[in-house]
Amino acid sequence: MADSTLWLHLMGIVLSLGASVLLIVGIYPAAQKIEDAEQRFQMLASILKYFHPLYLFGICLVFMSGAIGLTDLKIGLGTGYYEKISGPLMIKFGFTMMIFLIASMQCFGQGLKVTRMANGIIEADRATKDKYINKIKRATMINIVLIAITIYYGLQLGHAVAAN
Ligand code: HEM
Repeated sequence: MADSTLWLHLMGIVLSLGASVLLIVGIYPAAQKIEDAEQRFQMLASILKYFHPLYLFGICLVFMSGAIGLTDLKIGLGTGYYEKISGPLMIKFGFTMMIFLIASMQCFGQGLKVTRMANGIIEADRATKDKYINKIKRATMINIVLIAITIYYGLQLGHAVAAN
């Protein structure tokens, strides 16, 4: 993988994983300091409005740079490239698909719903608003774990490439 492509691949990981960890470790706990429930919801909704595009941009950057890198590898490794790297690559694809599905549900489903509840387009009671804020927290935590596992298989893929 060209250094510039690998740099984009790693920058995408830093962006998506870094933003997620800050949301869970920093922003959600800080929000609990706001006693008024509606103010807390509005604050989280205004942060999520910027978090989700940044998060998706990071994941898409990883995906696109990975696809570019893979194309280079196919050319470089020639026939039999599949046998040489399919192990870690297929596992990575499996995890990447799960990461994408969860991130899409979170950003396009739950995130947009929270934004619409926050600006009053969707009527919602306290329980519903809190339920969606917690769904987003859960989805982010699951993807932090899945991205961390995929990093491990990314390194294994790097070793498989180096061995060939
Ligand atoms: C969230 C998903 C992903 C994560 C966290 C991830 C992570 C990584 C990591 C940590 C590396 C090793 C970098 C190194 O050796 O310094 C790597 C390498 C690589 N990844 Fe990914 N990756 C992801 C998705 C993908 C996807 C979807 C593809 C292909 C479509 C892909 C293709 C590659 C390729 C081709 C390499 C380079 C192997 C090499 O030449 O050393 N990755 N990835």
